[in-house]
Amino acid sequence: MNGSHAASTRPAEGYHETYASWQADPEAYWLDIAKGIDWIRPPQRAFDAGQGVYGRWFPDATCNTCFNALDRHVRDGRGGQVALIHDSPVTGTKAKLTYAQMLDEVSTLAAVLKDLGVGKGDRVIIYIPMIPEAVFAMLACARIGAVHSVVFGGFAAKELATRIDDAEPKVILTATCGVEPTRVVEYKPLLDAAIAMSRHKPDACVVLNRPQVEASMHATRDRNWRALVAAAKAAGRRAECVEVAATDPLYILYTSGTTGRPKGVVRDNGGHMVVLKATMDQLFDVGPGEVMFTASDVGWVVGHGYIVYAPLIQGATSVLYEGKPVGTPDPGAFWRVIAEHGVKVLFTAPTAFRAIRKEDPEGKHIAGHDLSRFKALFLAGERADPETLKWAEGLLKVPVIDHWWQTESGSPIVGDPLGLGLLPVKHGSPTVPLPGWDVQCLDEGGRPVAPGMMGAIVLKLPLPPGALPTLWNDDARFREAYLTTYPGYYNTSDAGFIDADGYVFIMGRTDDIINVAGHRLSTGGMEEVLAAHPAVAECAVVGIRDALKGEQPCGFVVLKAGTSQSPAEVEKELVALVRERIGPVAAFKIAVTVNRLPKTRSGKILRATMKKIADGEDYAMPATIEDPAVLDEIDSVLKGRGLG
Ligand code: COA
Ligand code: AMP
Repeated sequence: MNGSHAASTRPAEGYHETYASWQADPEAYWLDIAKGIDWIRPPQRAFDAGQGVYGRWFPDATCNTCFNALDRHVRDGRGGQVALIHDSPVTGTKAKLTYAQMLDEVSTLAAVLKDLGVGKGDRVIIYIPMIPEAVFAMLACARIGAVHSVVFGGFAAKELATRIDDAEPKVILTATCGVEPTRVVEYKPLLDAAIAMSRHKPDACVVLNRPQVEASMHATRDRNWRALVAAAKAAGRRAECVEVAATDPLYILYTSGTTGRPKGVVRDNGGHMVVLKATMDQLFDVGPGEVMFTASDVGWVVGHGYIVYAPLIQGATSVLYEGKPVGTPDPGAFWRVIAEHGVKVLFTAPTAFRAIRKEDPEGKHIAGHDLSRFKALFLAGERADPETLKWAEGLLKVPVIDHWWQTESGSPIVGDPLGLGLLPVKHGSPTVPLPGWDVQCLDEGGRPVAPGMMGAIVLKLPLPPGALPTLWNDDARFREAYLTTYPGYYNTSDAGFIDADGYVFIMGRTDDIINVAGHRLSTGGMEEVLAAHPAVAECAVVGIRDALKGEQPCGFVVLKAGTSQSPAEVEKELVALVRERIGPVAAFKIAVTVNRLPKTRSGKILRATMKKIADGEDYAMPATIEDPAVLDEIDSVLKGRGLG
């Protein structure tokens, strides 16, 4: 690489000045931040409105993301610094890898991928739990210009099959198992079942044996990871970084859509690096050599961005934690990790803090842990309820920063920018739009609403670098799902309001997406599963309030007349069916049989009213309801189950 050398872009100005400088000249603003990245061909221009669906970032630049995450730090003398700390209470192991060691592992694995025929633009599915090899795999793909798609371990075989068919990977990288606190999750049978179901078949599966499980191998398709890597190391084989266009895809990450078919969110190379660099400086305030602990999973966007790419691009140290906030072994797990590894910033979902608070309301487990290097807690992934926020602030005595974003945005949209100087906190609001984002609140007709009034939260086009340019192989779905409702804007499908001080409040989704323990799930997808049961005539799934997980799915079903099975029997099968088809992560535990579903006169199911009843909230009788008595029936069935 001979491109521009990384210059410090640590902010010298505060939030208002920085936001104003972006507004005044977005091109100059982003080109300046782009100086913090090592390019092969540095960008001469920031944006081309004529390319892609709404334009593309850094259209004339070339780069390599892996080079920025590893090679340049080794080149610059950081080779001996720890890049990744694997801390795994579920297996009782810990490991530290320096930048130089990471580079060795990644360039070897990249050579193995090349030997298997993987080249620039080919897709690779990564189905690996929270172990360093997941990070090696992502970076190895980036190194050779292949496009990775990481699939979260809590999904069922069918979900994996859907992703295999959409991404059409040449190779799948996997491990024999994931380790949950109460059970070992065997990955290989899930992978074999997924491949049996999928239309597309990968050329090869590279399987990493973990000590907990030895998997049976398919004679021709499956390859032994450790043997391939050992042979490549013995032969001194390494793959160098491949030059890609800044606009080439780095990864596809599938996220819940409004049906069972997930959306393949595409992330580019150049814009992604630039925006991650900006957020590390402006929002998270984590610099080279500092330690970031993002307690999420590499299968989610938070894990892609802030376990893997952002800390490494920044030359920081990232903690890869294979455990839970509670029960591994106790609610002091996070404090132990923070103290032991000198963590500056912890980033997790509010549900993790609700879980800790439930088990240790007085924070007794903090005792004995030195948190002196800990400077801030960041929360995202779901609405941070003010009670949990205040509890965390009182306990930790550091800023607790709620920030809002989506898989599609690729990086935070609204937050309190620690690196630019914190703004006054308003509990319940993730604070203000970060530079690059023009956040607005519109009514149904697309007109701006008055400050404080609820509306649709939208983002003015063009979206900044790092946001999705499109959906994988589906520009039409991208336009239809996000850009058509409010012309000129991206529709976030979140509802909320913006107050007179410009603080954004995100109150909930306007579509059928629910958020269960920070995991994004489609109730439409669950309805498809319930409807497939032979005894089910009709169904509706809504997200109901849950003290720990924020929301949990609740399925209402009407059974077909003459069904021989009892309602209890069907309900049990439905719970098992969602687990089998979508996965344990759906946490679908409540199926309720009712005589009929409440509907409008035109036949639309009144899901929002059912949710209000289940949450024990007051509701206004919908004017168009077909038969108001149905709501009383639902209420009494729920009360009979201890709900509502
Ligand atoms: N592989 C396989 N199964 C998994 C899994 C994985 N990677 N992650 C979760 N699961 C399973 C769990 O074992 C559980 O199965 P069960 O029904 O047999 O108990 C199920 O999926 C639901 O998991 P989860 O929602 O995580 O609930 P939990 O009871 O295990 O833990 C919390 C509750 C609050 C501790 C946990 O949700 C948590 O740590 N949340 C943090 C949120 C987070 O990381 N969000 C990511 C976005 S930032
Ligand atoms: P995901 O794509 O999984 O990151 O989920 C994105 C969705 O989670 C958003 O559209 C919001 O509905 C919700 N969300 C994420 N962060 C927040 C937050 N800080 N406050 C409120 N909702 C949030």
